[in-house]
Amino acid sequence: MKYDCIIIGGGAAGLMCAATAGYRGRKTLVLDHANKVGKKILMSGGGRCNFTNYFVEPDNYISKNEHFCKSALSRYTQYDFIDLVGRYELAFHEKAKGQLFCDNKASDILDILLKECELAGVEIKTRCEISSVIPSVGGSGSYTLETSQGEFICDSLVVACGGLSIPTMGATSFGFDLAKQFGLDVLSIQPSLVPYTFSDKWLDISKQLSGVSMEVEISTKSANFHESFLFTHRGISGPAVLQITNYWNAGDEVSVNFFPGVSLAEKIKAWREEGVKSELKTLLTKVSEKPLAKNFVNTWLDLCGENKPVSRYSNDEIDRIVEHFQSWTFKPSGTEGYRTAEVTLGGVNTDGVSSKTFEAKEVKGLFFIGEVLDVTGWLGGFNFQWAWASGWCAGQYV
Ligand code: FDA
Repeated sequence: MKYDCIIIGGGAAGLMCAATAGYRGRKTLVLDHANKVGKKILMSGGGRCNFTNYFVEPDNYISKNEHFCKSALSRYTQYDFIDLVGRYELAFHEKAKGQLFCDNKASDILDILLKECELAGVEIKTRCEISSVIPSVGGSGSYTLETSQGEFICDSLVVACGGLSIPTMGATSFGFDLAKQFGLDVLSIQPSLVPYTFSDKWLDISKQLSGVSMEVEISTKSANFHESFLFTHRGISGPAVLQITNYWNAGDEVSVNFFPGVSLAEKIKAWREEGVKSELKTLLTKVSEKPLAKNFVNTWLDLCGENKPVSRYSNDEIDRIVEHFQSWTFKPSGTEGYRTAEVTLGGVNTDGVSSKTFEAKEVKGLFFIGEVLDVTGWLGGFNFQWAWASGWCAGQYV
């Protein structure tokens, strides 16, 4: 069967691209090997899908070529997607920092995309395994796909297979392999937006404090975030930790300030000068706007000195305590890996892809969109916005 456009992968980017191409009158087919499309949309945002963000900027993305994402993000903005969901009267709300979530469930977003595909005349085949992609002789830009459901031919082939995160949801390396088959460069990949694990003494401490959360400032040598942080029975997690993994390589140090925006040294010294009688551990729980958990303060204080009335601390002891609470520096043993990572950092090198059309520069008719590309967003709706924007832009040219 012959199509104008075949899209491999019915995720966020693939479905957006399919609907856009279909509305342009292109005979479009989506092929997905999973039993249903859009599985990551369904599990996203804790079941409510953080589908975009009011404050999308190119700076929210990591890519070897920091300019690549700019064109698509400006041609299909968060407001375009908000308009789309508005047409379907989707009820949504803003959480912190411009993050937009469905009021009801993530399936509302998938339903909108599937309705758009239906209205645009897009055909979707699931449980379809693709065994080979054969370009036409002479590279004139048509492709033959051999699949478990027969042979399909197209003029434009869009690779929208995503990355490797959550293999149980259907993630495969197919997109990266296909890129290599056609001579594109694939930059090294790693799981990201993912919790850290410990195998040293911090593991026992994390287990002991598992479930304790607080606002922190977290940093690596190239980035810092002020977000919520959580101890787990394997290590540490929470938005702060996930965000920093986008800027982290194995072996790098990470630093955490448990009292962001506070000069702890000044506070402790002021209590001491005022002759406050309380013990330090009691006072420390009350410094932040949201009181810190007592078991965290006790454990952390035990790690760097004794607890006593605040008036009895020397300057050296105060320095040590401040360092420990405000610059806790450690090397994570690793991450939880693709099993729980929200995204794959790295991917198809954007140098080989047009930022306008998303067509491979050297391979006519072959397009790459969404997470398979070396463009990774922050936590907060930025990855879906990239999927919508790249999918929509490619949909104009396929
Ligand atoms: P996506 O992964 O969505 O789709 C790829 C499709 O290709 C899948 O349908 C897959 O089955 C198919 N496929 C793979 N291999 C294939 C093969 N060999 N043959 C055929 N088909 C194949 N982002 C965000 O902005 N807000 C959020 O709230 C969240 N939340 C979130 C939670 C969790 C648990 C995860 C894992 C991820 C998120 N994300 C997120 C990230 C977001 O889900 C992700 O960036 C986008 O889904 C990427 O869209 P793509 O279409 O590129 O890939």
